[in-house]
Amino acid sequence: MADKIRVLLSEEEVNKRINEIAAEINRDYAGKKVHLICILKGGVFFTCELAKRITVPVSLDFMSVSSYGSGTESSGVVKIIKDLDEPLEGKDVLIVEDIIDSGRTLSYLIEVLKQRNPATIQLCTLLDKPERRVKKQVQVQYTCFTIPDEFVVGYGLDYDQHYRNLPYIGVIEK
Ligand code: IMP
Ligand code: MG
Repeated sequence: MADKIRVLLSEEEVNKRINEIAAEINRDYAGKKVHLICILKGGVFFTCELAKRITVPVSLDFMSVSSYGSGTESSGVVKIIKDLDEPLEGKDVLIVEDIIDSGRTLSYLIEVLKQRNPATIQLCTLLDKPERRVKKQVQVQYTCFTIPDEFVVGYGLDYDQHYRNLPYIGVIEK
């Protein structure tokens, strides 16, 4: 039987908030270029919607990392599955993530990417679950929504690879 999904953030709410965040980015990066790094697979829907609304010159690259198994708990192990295609030297890098939960994935990634000498490196996330944070040092410059400690799906986020394509963010009702 199909899971029942409760809407937490509607498509309209998400899109409206992405407009606001893009406006902040456009202001902050005025006169510069921004190099977006999409963290696959979850970040892909958010990255596309965000990139469409950015008016400063944008370049895009993709990286795939794994920190979760097939369940809902972090394994604590971060592995690079697909690395970037382009160097970061001298670029104003903005990492685009679906969600920051324990912060393990991002704290590892930021350290790895800093070694590649970007001019700046900042973080933009669709969702943040601060109650779950283990790596407190992770600084997030742009957050669309802070949410409670619930497992969410949609807008790129999956449960066992399902529901990424939902146009809203929801919680699976057990
Ligand atoms: P962290 O390393 O614990 O911060 O985990 C980050 C990654 O875990 C995210 O990029 C997601 O892929 C996944 N994740 C964390 N919470 C959720 C959730 O509520 N729904 C779906 N995926 C999640
Ligand atoms: Mg992810």
